[in-house]
Amino acid sequence: MRIAVLAAAVLVLVAPPAASPQVLVPYVPTAYEVVDRMLALAEVTKEDVVYDLGSGDGRIPIAAAKNHGARGVGLDIDPRRIEESRANAKAAGVESLVEFREQDVLTADISGATVVTLYLLSSFNAQLRPILTRQLRPGTRIVSHAFSMGPTWPADKVDRFTTKTGDEITLYLWKFDGKIRP
Ligand SMILES: C[S@@+](CC[C@H](N)C(=O)[O-])C[C@H]1O[C@@H](n2cnc3c(N)ncnc32)[C@H](O)[C@@H]1O
Repeated sequence: MRIAVLAAAVLVLVAPPAASPQVLVPYVPTAYEVVDRMLALAEVTKEDVVYDLGSGDGRIPIAAAKNHGARGVGLDIDPRRIEESRANAKAAGVESLVEFREQDVLTADISGATVVTLYLLSSFNAQLRPILTRQLRPGTRIVSHAFSMGPTWPADKVDRFTTKTGDEITLYLWKFDGKIRP
């Protein structure tokens, strides 16, 4: 259901306004139940630094901090989302553990991550693949909601489940092996 919402929104954004050409993935938040499952799949602990690439309202880094004691970094290209995320972090009492940066993830430094979370699109994941594999350290876990990395980089684990509201969800987990992938 949510994938359909995201796909429909993408159709609207196929020809984005000239002022925001990089925003090819619209804002559709991951349900909190799914956020919890993504962080559990990555086995997030307080030792982790969780980067959400395209972080929306900040719910994934905030949940990583609040529920697991991890540090969180959210990157989003939309300044409204960054402002909202900072307010949400303050309301959740985790301002000291999380940071939000207005940035294009395709040009960002993500080398500090021990866990990366994604809810983007297959085409966007394909663009991210060389960036992730050049920057991340071996052992970094990557969790993607709904979208794979393509046939050249199969997931190490796939978690399929139905939410309480009846949405069918697929999550993909990779434990980065250090191999550069174009
Ligand atoms: C589908 S939403 C996911 C939000 C959040 N990660 C979640 O799961 O709830 C995708 C987000 O990516 C952001 N985004 C799109 N293109 C981006 C880019 N090039 N760099 C950074 N953020 C981007 C959008 O503004 C949007 O907030």
